[in-house]
Amino acid sequence: METAIEVKDLTKKYGNFVAVDHINFTINKGEIFSLLGPNGAGKTTTIGMLSTIKRPTEGDAYILGYSIVKQKYHVRKIIGVSPQDLTADDELSGYENVLIMAKLFGYKGKEAEDRSEWALKFMDLWDSAFRRVREYSGGMRRRLEIAMSIVHNPSVIFLDEPTLGLDVQSRRHIWELVRELKKNGTTVLLTTHYMEEAEALSDRVAIIDHGKIIAIGTPDELKAKIKGDRIYILVKENDQLDEIINKINDIIPNSAIKIDNQILVKTESSSELLPQLIKILSGYDVVELKVVKPNLEEVFLELTGRELREEEGGFDRFKYMRVTRGARR
Ligand SMILES: Nc1ncnc2c1ncn2[C@@H]1O[C@H](COP(=O)(O)OP(=O)(O)OP(=O)(O)O)[C@@H](O)[C@H]1O
Ligand SMILES: [Mg+2]
Repeated sequence: METAIEVKDLTKKYGNFVAVDHINFTINKGEIFSLLGPNGAGKTTTIGMLSTIKRPTEGDAYILGYSIVKQKYHVRKIIGVSPQDLTADDELSGYENVLIMAKLFGYKGKEAEDRSEWALKFMDLWDSAFRRVREYSGGMRRRLEIAMSIVHNPSVIFLDEPTLGLDVQSRRHIWELVRELKKNGTTVLLTTHYMEEAEALSDRVAIIDHGKIIAIGTPDELKAKIKGDRIYILVKENDQLDEIINKINDIIPNSAIKIDNQILVKTESSSELLPQLIKILSGYDVVELKVVKPNLEEVFLELTGRELREEEGGFDRFKYMRVTRGARR
């Protein structure tokens, strides 16, 4: 397989703080590769370096063989970037925004117009192309950012949190279009803190935390790190937690631990353990009992002892508002 991106010991320090810490990975041509990690993990900083906007403190990376440190201008011609913070001018139409990008990349006249039309059609935005961006929905704005980043037909595209704050339907629409990009032969590196997104979309995933890559592989390979199921138990009285944990560990040693205010039980087979568990729990006030099959969230928890994200619904209102405000003036 041919290599599209090769990252070697890439590091970014801000003063003494190490935001990205000697990361290494290789992305094959035509792959969809995700950097999955919580807030502040170093995802945007990594994209910033790979797209030559931020200079690495140490290390280097090669995009189709071009160094991001020594051959910035070559790199810029072959990549497209859709940043986390929205950049389109919302006083202009979607078409005007894309046309400006086409011209920045050196297309002129009819060719610039044709490229813009292609990008907007590709992102399912042609029907709204001549409306002002301020009238766009959140999903349309994200699709416009991607249209702006593909107008020059880049070989490699970086999508920094392409579905941040979107509802499930808009998110899935973007997933479909990213898959279309892959079909077109484009290599895609995206960042996300939604584990469903990494799992549904990626050929391979790198889990990043505190600037370090802590696991890398296909979603299936990563999930295979977790053997068996997880059972979460929430009881009304927190002072009963230790007692319950001891009783469960009497049956299967070291299977139960406390995570926040919940009990987490790791088991090879939940169906075998559940009847015994229910017997133990019958004396307590159980608020919730949840059986979870292996997923990337569990992999992250296993590796770090922390949850990947607090919000479950997927709509991070605060962050969404911060991001969209950046685009208004
Ligand atoms: N210009 C800067 N100066 C100092 N620290 C910075 C700077 N930019 C980023 N950082 C810090 O580097 C770390 C990584 O930030 P980064 O934006 O790359 O994280 P992220 O994974 O993209 O997070 P998020 O999910 O919130 O977008 C954070 O702790 C952040 O505060
Ligand atoms: Mg970020």
